[in-house]
Amino acid sequence: MSDRVYNFSAGPACLPESVLKQAQKDIWNIFDSGIGVLEHSHRNKYFDRITHETEADCRAVGNIPDDMAIFWMQGGATSQCYMVPANFLPEGRTADYFQTGKWANDSIDEVHLYGNVHICGSSKESNYNHIPKGDQVKYSENPVYVQFTSNNTIMGTEFKENPKAPGDAFLVADMSSNIYSRPMDFSQYGLVYAGAQKNLGPAGVTLLIGKKSLIDNPVRELPKMMQYGLCAKKEGRYNTPPTFGVYLMGQVFKWILAEGGLQAMEERNREKAAIIYDFIDSQDFFTPHAITEDRSDMNITFKCPSAELDAQFIEEAEAKGLTTLAGHRAIGGMRASIYNAFPKAGCEALVAFMKDFAHAHAGATA
Ligand SMILES: Cc1ncc(COP(=O)(O)O)c(C=O)c1O
Repeated sequence: MSDRVYNFSAGPACLPESVLKQAQKDIWNIFDSGIGVLEHSHRNKYFDRITHETEADCRAVGNIPDDMAIFWMQGGATSQCYMVPANFLPEGRTADYFQTGKWANDSIDEVHLYGNVHICGSSKESNYNHIPKGDQVKYSENPVYVQFTSNNTIMGTEFKENPKAPGDAFLVADMSSNIYSRPMDFSQYGLVYAGAQKNLGPAGVTLLIGKKSLIDNPVRELPKMMQYGLCAKKEGRYNTPPTFGVYLMGQVFKWILAEGGLQAMEERNREKAAIIYDFIDSQDFFTPHAITEDRSDMNITFKCPSAELDAQFIEEAEAKGLTTLAGHRAIGGMRASIYNAFPKAGCEALVAFMKDFAHAHAGATA
């Protein structure tokens, strides 16, 4: 029997088994160099190879066009809350933001340091259970960019289509929790960023994909460490980068390519999510948080009829090897995070447990 359990963590999250096994070997001795990956200088020929392969494989996975740079930074996705307006928003101008949950709010909170913020759509009134669209969206007159969180990790909602930015405005997306979960047209964005610790690798490295024409022309003078263009030009190693994170992201890109690329990821993710959603839709013991048309294939949020039953569900699931199912404190209940590397068998095991639990507590009401 395996000594590993089903890890439904929202991030850091489970990684592909083959990647972890390769990493175990490479931590001891990578490329027959006699030195492990954690011990190599970020300026030697071995790390040159890691850097260049990671960039090339990232480009191949996402079919990233040549006019976009691929690079990485530290400080988590949270640092991008100020980096984006610092680099792109001139004083006195406005940027439009979709308010779809905590991560969007963290970004919205920083904009005033550099310019004006306009909330162009919000689902706050319904505790972020949907994505604002249609006549719920009102852009400002002439925004510099429109920012959205493509997948709301806490609430379990996902943009199924990109917002249509007005005029010359470009799109900025926080893709931390659904990057590379399905094919996406990256040419549509000015900038995409993603903390690696969900679909791409370990915590400590943030992937950025940005139009060269934008990142090379920051709208104000900035400290060197805050300049996207400089960071990209220096291949993410203006200073010492998180070398292990870069290496591991590279291994995850190789894994995605070997598994059939983003088309294969999408098919697998749809199938996994459907196992859980089909069951939720077929019964009335568990209630989903997100409305059906906006629900996420990555983070599935649901509740029992009472908070006491939620707590019992989480405890009993844990004892059965279904771990880290507690929902974020902002909404309570349960959250099953099933990123690319999460196995289908784990989704089936969760549904089997949900059935048993609902049966044992039949008759419980909210
Ligand atoms: C969508 C999204 N954005 C931003 C963050 C914050 O990332 P970090 O902790 O890397 O700063 C998270 C973390 O879970 C997230 O899910």
